[in-house]
Amino acid sequence: MDDSCFLDIATIDDIDMMRDLWASLPGLGLGPGDDKAAITGFMERNPHTCLVLRKNRQIIGTVLGGFDGRRGYVYHLAVRQDCQRYGYGTLLLDNVVQALKNEGAGKIHLLVFRDNSSAQLFYAARGWHLREDINIFSLV
Ligand SMILES: CC(C)(COP(=O)(O)OP(=O)(O)OC[C@H]1O[C@@H](n2cnc3c(N)ncnc32)[C@H](O)[C@@H]1OP(=O)(O)O)[C@@H](O)C(=O)NCCC(=O)NCCS
Repeated sequence: MDDSCFLDIATIDDIDMMRDLWASLPGLGLGPGDDKAAITGFMERNPHTCLVLRKNRQIIGTVLGGFDGRRGYVYHLAVRQDCQRYGYGTLLLDNVVQALKNEGAGKIHLLVFRDNSSAQLFYAARGWHLREDINIFSLV
């Protein structure tokens, strides 16, 4: 990892930059749950499992980990486009998984849009497996 780059717990003050990063990346579906108030609430409920990668006062990577008391969930793993393929996504994923396990999460799940093939290749390369036996039902 580049010396000027370090992993940190995300703070409320980071949210604007995090949202800018998410908006810059195809593959992340941003919805009403991503406005500042919603992300603030998520971070307050999950104070140890929301991580950022900082470099020169910028945020070049994010991941949100959520633990509901039973399962862990990974959201918004994102690496700035010009910083991809340097291992930062792996670093963020490994650390959020460890942080969720520290909270007590046994199984950890994440959702990927079916047309986001690069993220699916990434997760498969990191040892995650695609569940063929579950459909997701949503109430919106
Ligand atoms: C998915 C993402 C976080 C990966 O971050 P990254 O820093 O590029 O990942 P890494 O450098 O750790 O990649 C590790 C390995 O994953 C695989 N991989 C990563 N990106 C890939 C791609 N676009 N195509 C194919 N394989 C890929 C490769 O095996 C890679 O190893 P290699 O570079 O030695 O070949 C990044 O591409 C991203 O931010 N995408 C946009 C947002 C998004 O879709 N997030 C997921 C939401 S579910």
